[in-house]
Amino acid sequence: MGNHPFTLNDKLVLVTGASSGIGRQCAITCSRLGAVVVLLGRDENRLSETMEAMHHKDRHESVQIDLCEFDRIPAMVKNLTQRLGMISGLINCAGVSTTLPLNALSVDKMNSFMETNVFSALNLTKYVVSSSNFSKEGGSVIFLSSVMGVVGAKGKTLHSMTKGALVSASKSMAVELGARKIRVNTVSPGVVETPMSKSAIYSRNKEALEFVKEQHPLGLGEPEDVANACAFLLSEGSKWITGTNMIVDGGYLAK
Ligand SMILES: NC(=O)c1ccc[n+]([C@@H]2O[C@H](COP(=O)([O-])OP(=O)(O)OC[C@H]3O[C@@H](n4cnc5c(N)ncnc54)[C@H](OP(=O)(O)O)[C@@H]3O)[C@@H](O)[C@H]2O)c1
Repeated sequence: MGNHPFTLNDKLVLVTGASSGIGRQCAITCSRLGAVVVLLGRDENRLSETMEAMHHKDRHESVQIDLCEFDRIPAMVKNLTQRLGMISGLINCAGVSTTLPLNALSVDKMNSFMETNVFSALNLTKYVVSSSNFSKEGGSVIFLSSVMGVVGAKGKTLHSMTKGALVSASKSMAVELGARKIRVNTVSPGVVETPMSKSAIYSRNKEALEFVKEQHPLGLGEPEDVANACAFLLSEGSKWITGTNMIVDGGYLAK
């Protein structure tokens, strides 16, 4: 019997932001679907908590790294492939978010957000998809964008700038890497309950939270809603899907 199209059996998958929220759930979901997962994040304790929740914990590894230390990335990726084999999947979840009016933006802030949300992910992807590190059979790269990469909201200029950049850069990567059967897509969530969104929403008043909920016809999302979409995009079930932006938003953009 052939493999189920949605299995990730024995694929080597890297997940950034695996110490929290959506990245953590992506790592756990991939492990349940059979992947060997490398968890990437900065906070060692929270990486260990993710590892504890993984299926077959002994198969996976975690690497404590700040992805903005760009020069460390090539050796880190090489070390992984020399020991674990070729990579078939990458989920770029690491990121930061903020709400700031336009008049509060400085060039330093713009640079820092681009570095964390865009440059670090593109830099990592560049080394992961190099022909000496990525599976000859091809595979899948995913970037976590956001509905804010497609539409706007007050105070979201900085965030939208970085998330829109991921949507458009992915399309060119999809074209460039298609011949090697490497697919590149973005996933754009609405508001998902994670430490990131909680620090943004719950710090405001109850009415602000109610307003955000009302914007999502299916209510706020859970990390697994996004992780399941990412797992599909990693699997062979999506082998003819590339250069797309998959909206996973409980209906936020349907209005
Ligand atoms: N939650 C939402 O509502 C929502 C909506 C749309 C899009 N998204 C996107 O989904 C992704 C995950 O969001 P989340 O809600 O899961 O956020 P989260 O819980 O705050 O987690 C963010 C993750 O990014 C990692 N990270 C940040 N800067 C890093 C760096 N320089 N190097 C390495 N890792 C770094 C953090 O690692 P450490 O904690 O170890 O430092 C953490 O694991 C983000 O790209 C976010 O923009 C989220």
